Formats: sequence, C-alpha cells, structure tokens
Amino acid sequence: MRIGILTGGGDCPGLNAVIRSAVRAATGRHKWEVVGFLNGYKGLVENRFRPLDSATVSGLLDRGGTIIGTSNVDNPYKFAETVDGKRSYRDASEDVVRTYKEHNLGGLIVVGGDGTLGIARQLYKEKGLNIVGVPKTIDNDLSATDYTFGFDTAVGIVTDAVDRIKTTAESHERVMVVEVMGRDTGWIALFSGLASGAHIILIPEIPYDLRHVVTKIYERATIGKHFCVILVSEGAKPAGGQVTVKRHVDDPSMGIRLGGVGNVIAGQIEELTGIDTRVVTLGHVQRGGTPSSFDRILCTRLGVEAVNMIADGKFGMMACLKTPRIEIVPLEQAAMNRKVNPNDQMIAEAKACGISFGDGD
Ligand code: F6P
Repeated sequence: MRIGILTGGGDCPGLNAVIRSAVRAATGRHKWEVVGFLNGYKGLVENRFRPLDSATVSGLLDRGGTIIGTSNVDNPYKFAETVDGKRSYRDASEDVVRTYKEHNLGGLIVVGGDGTLGIARQLYKEKGLNIVGVPKTIDNDLSATDYTFGFDTAVGIVTDAVDRIKTTAESHERVMVVEVMGRDTGWIALFSGLASGAHIILIPEIPYDLRHVVTKIYERATIGKHFCVILVSEGAKPAGGQVTVKRHVDDPSMGIRLGGVGNVIAGQIEELTGIDTRVVTLGHVQRGGTPSSFDRILCTRLGVEAVNMIADGKFGMMACLKTPRIEIVPLEQAAMNRKVNPNDQMIAEAKACGISFGDGD
C-alpha cells in the first residue's frame, strides 16, 4: 500500500519529527510506500511530491521546519491562481481527488492547524478520501489535546529571550515590552511569563487597563526595582478596545494578521511615565529551530498513531494527547478552540507571585 503525508498551515517545531516517525512506522512495520506532498495542499492540487523512505527521514528528529514544505494560503476549495497579474480563485478539490487516485493512496496523513484540518475534514466527508489528522500549532489553542506540539518549544524560546531581556532591562532601568505570538489566545505569554518571571503579562482573555500596568511599574520602583518586563500576546487588547492589526490579508476568509500591540503599549507607557521603554517582537523566531524534547516525544508518538489509524481504518479522526495516552478524536474537534480561563488556577498562582495581568487584581 502507499500512503501520503502533507504539512499545512504555519510551520512549527516538530513537523519533521512527525514525518520521521510516520515514515518509519509505515515503511518498517507495514512495508508501505510513503509520498510527501509538497507545500501543503498545493502539492496535492498540482501533484508535486517526493517519495519518503527511512533513509530520507534520517536525522529529522531534531530538525526545525518541514522537509516537504508548507503553506497557510492554499485551500483546494478556494485555490488562488494568478494569470496576467490578476488573481482569481477556483474550486480545485477534484484535482486533489485526481492526485490521490493517481497515487493509489490507501490513506493520507494531514498535519496542520484548525484551518488545514478543517479542509481535511471536508475532503474526507465530501470526497471520501481516507484522511487522518495530526494537530499542530505553537499557539496551543486546541481543546481536543492537552498540548499541541510546537507549544513547548515556543515557550522555551520566549523564556530564554525574557531571561536575556531582563538583564539588559535592569542595567538600563528600562521597561521592556516583549510581544509574542498566540493569535487570540494567551497560552504562550502565560506559560513563558510564569517560566521567566515576567512582571506583567497581557493576554487576550484578560483585557488590560493601562493605568494598572503603570501602577505595577511604579510599585516595582518603590521597592527599588527600576525596570520591568511586560510580556504581551499579539492578540491582547485594552478593556473596551480592539486588537492591534498589522495588516488585513487580501482574502477576508483568512482572517486578520495580528501584530504591533507591543509598540502601541510601549508608546503609551513612555508617554504616561517618561520611563525609557523598548519593544522586542519575537515573531517567527518562536516557530523556528530545534524542537524541545517534550515536543520530539509528542511528535514521534503522534506520527506513529497516525499510521496506526490508517492501518485500523479510523479515517476522519485525528490523534491527540490525553496524558499519558495518545488517543483519537473526530476531525471536527480540530475546530474547537481553547482559551485561557481568567479564573484558572494558573492565573491565580501567577497573581499570588505578584505578576500583574493589567486588570487591577
Ligand atoms: O498560528 C501560528 C501563528 O504563528 C500565530 O501565532 C501567528 O499569529 C501566525 O501564525 C503568524 O502567521 P504567519 O506565519 O502567516 O505570519
């Protein structure tokens, strides 16, 4: 039998580790052939692929990115094409079916976030393709799984950055605003803020009031701490206000692109306090490079489970972590978003340690 694999959406540390374990399990235990489709659904639409065997995936466990490429703009149901400089969209889902049949696939592993897995579910339901899913995102905003892979690595990267930023903030007696990813959830900021001892954490789930942020900065000054590190999620917003948008993307169905709230907050703090304030936007560094050992293990287990699912005919499902087990749930659950609960124990624990969330508590 032959199976396919593709990685879609934004990249994430651990994608290669999933590819490696899936290929090893498929080619070793089952003696299946594996093809990797290039650049997400684009490779399936255009039938661009590369064969993957045990030798090809050797050395991938700790390698960032994805050797088969990814795309967070190619949707086969609304496939963009540019002719004579003009962009138009067409339904290319039948091209996907043709490629699938041409390769005589017995199953297809789709590794992606909610968008990619939503399309996978549609292809499974409407076109009858034997699809299984593996969820990924550094944002950790999926309720079906305890943790998404990539998140632990991103938290480690931010924690390391804040450790470094703290020393320079202290030397210069500055406020440092560190903007992190996470879309409309604050998981990355919350976990890395706790791990690094950030003084203020601003997340989308707890709208902030700048007056409380400033109060915390002054409070620290009264105990001789003339510096402050503020960790802010890209989706954080003031009470009664809006998120800061970097740019509206061309296709409205793809949503807005967040970014810039760190600069807004830094400007306001400087204006209100006169304290020298700087901004560090960590951006895509959070998604690059070597996955943490936690993510490597999780990815290895998820890749093997995806192959098990195909062997067992469990299509239309995705693998997820229900500690300590890897379990499977319907692909529908990829759309179930998980946000930080402002009343969560972890928030209370952070506040007990003196961390401010800009809400006056
Ligand atoms: O969903 C993952 C993520 O990294 C978000 O945290 C961020 O908002 C977005 O992707 C950035 O996407 P892009 O790579 O298109 O800039």
